Amino acid sequence: MAQFPLRYPVKAGESLKSVQNFPEHITKIVKLCEGASSRRLTVVVAGGGSVGDFGGFVASILKRGVRLVHMPSTWLSAIDSAHGGKTALNVGSAKNQIGTFYPADKIVLSRSLLMAQPDARAFEGFGELLKIALIAGGPLWRDLAKEYEVNAAVLWKYLSSAIDAKYKVVAKDPEEKSGHRHILNLGHTLGHVLETQYELPHGVAINYGLEFALRFSLHKKSSHLLSTKS
Ligand SMILES: NC(=O)c1ccc[n+]([C@@H]2O[C@H](COP(=O)([O-])OP(=O)(O)OC[C@H]3O[C@@H](n4cnc5c(N)ncnc54)[C@H](O)[C@@H]3O)[C@@H](O)[C@H]2O)c1
Ligand SMILES: [Zn+2]
Repeated sequence: MAQFPLRYPVKAGESLKSVQNFPEHITKIVKLCEGASSRRLTVVVAGGGSVGDFGGFVASILKRGVRLVHMPSTWLSAIDSAHGGKTALNVGSAKNQIGTFYPADKIVLSRSLLMAQPDARAFEGFGELLKIALIAGGPLWRDLAKEYEVNAAVLWKYLSSAIDAKYKVVAKDPEEKSGHRHILNLGHTLGHVLETQYELPHGVAINYGLEFALRFSLHKKSSHLLSTKS
């Protein structure tokens, strides 16, 4: 961090993404960048998904867009949110209502930084890993389904396959125009409601949302089988 001449520390969390707080942030950031040429500016985001959504948005509008580097520091951001170019701000309690598509020029994954996280962060990242493994199927799902523990070693082991799987989906619909990319919202419909209503961390809410979506599909399938039998 000391190598960067301009630094802007923030407090992670949903309030960082609040559109209400944004004018104050951007005013301070513009002041910080006074005198710097836009060609030489790069926003380097070091943090979890909330910092990534906020910092990515800043990079996309600052001087009409400057270079962006993500250095995800949580499992959730390393597996999911740093990839795919979505930036976001929340409007009131409605999540991710404002944003841009602004893929990072570079994403730096630091093993030592990710491994230093507490166990709770591993649990939060696991839902997104499970989600992408379910979507991808194949060896990623087959191997992950054999794991019995959620820990940093397991997350690191599947990190690159999970990222590849996300890019496969994103490549087919980078700006969510055809609807294909919506598949990445698996578990997020209820997940976002629980996240807002109970102020849960995103990853925890998505774990519940995913479980609900899977149980609901099973229930729908069973009801369908029963109705076709009778
Ligand atoms: N843009 C996308 O495609 C996308 C995808 C998924 C989720 N998201 C967003 O990501 C956010 C959730 O991301 P998150 O779970 O990383 O949340 P977060 O950024 O709020 O971080 C969670 C907590 O971890 C702490 N933290 C960060 N790095 C740490 C480290 N190395 N060691 C210890 N603690 C650390 C933070 O201070 C914070 O308290 C949500 O806002 C969600 O909407 C975006
Ligand atoms: Zn998510």
